[in-house]
Amino acid sequence: MSEFFSALDSVLSGLGQLQRESDHPPRATRSALERLRLTSAPRRSEKAERLAPLRERVAVCTRCPHLAAARIQTVFGTGNLDADIMFIGEAPGADEDRLGEPFVGRAGQLLTKIIGAMGYTRDDVYIANVLKCRPDTPGRSAGNRPPTPEEMATCLPYLAEQIAIIEPRVLVALGATAVEGLLEFRAPMSQLRGRWHSYHDTPLMITYHPSYLLRNQSNTEKRKVWEDMLLVLERLERRITEKQRGYFR
Ligand code: URA
Repeated sequence: MSEFFSALDSVLSGLGQLQRESDHPPRATRSALERLRLTSAPRRSEKAERLAPLRERVAVCTRCPHLAAARIQTVFGTGNLDADIMFIGEAPGADEDRLGEPFVGRAGQLLTKIIGAMGYTRDDVYIANVLKCRPDTPGRSAGNRPPTPEEMATCLPYLAEQIAIIEPRVLVALGATAVEGLLEFRAPMSQLRGRWHSYHDTPLMITYHPSYLLRNQSNTEKRKVWEDMLLVLERLERRITEKQRGYFR
């Protein structure tokens, strides 16, 4: 462990130098960087290798024939395979179905802002949904519907495998459908959010879905989600600024 910290120290002190001498990093710094890369690279590539066949199975899945027939494409998940945080939403909407990436519509833009306020980018975290297909809306040209219990039960094994491969340090369930998928029960969000739960030994924070915040734009509701995210940052022992602590007060 102390070897890890001294390697890290030397990387951090070397970074300043790297900026000044980017063409000629000092020898000691280069070897510390290489050592750090050597310890993290195999982990990520091993995860990528395990995730690829799962992604392929999802891409051609027809277990829900009505969803397979209606979708443009499946929406597997996106982000850093070594992420500390994995956000779990409900299901793709029309934008996600079109672009093949979770949380890219209005709710997704809000989630991206929340992730940014936490000091991360979308590329730092991992984002996935309970359902990999957009719930169909026959006879309607717009709008969404929640997944049925049968659709969720059918699709959940994919999410379970995804979580087992990515092994995030913390899971964040966004909204009641994500909670139902992960914990197999339903309860008012007001009773579930703001405290730690557990999914197969991984700490699980429950908070409102960003689309709830789009419908309820008061600072009181935003603050609730933000307090849940502060708990996540604390759990990960991230430095939290006074400015961050005060958001939406
Ligand atoms: N809502 C979700 O739950 N997931 C998405 O990917 C987009 C919107």
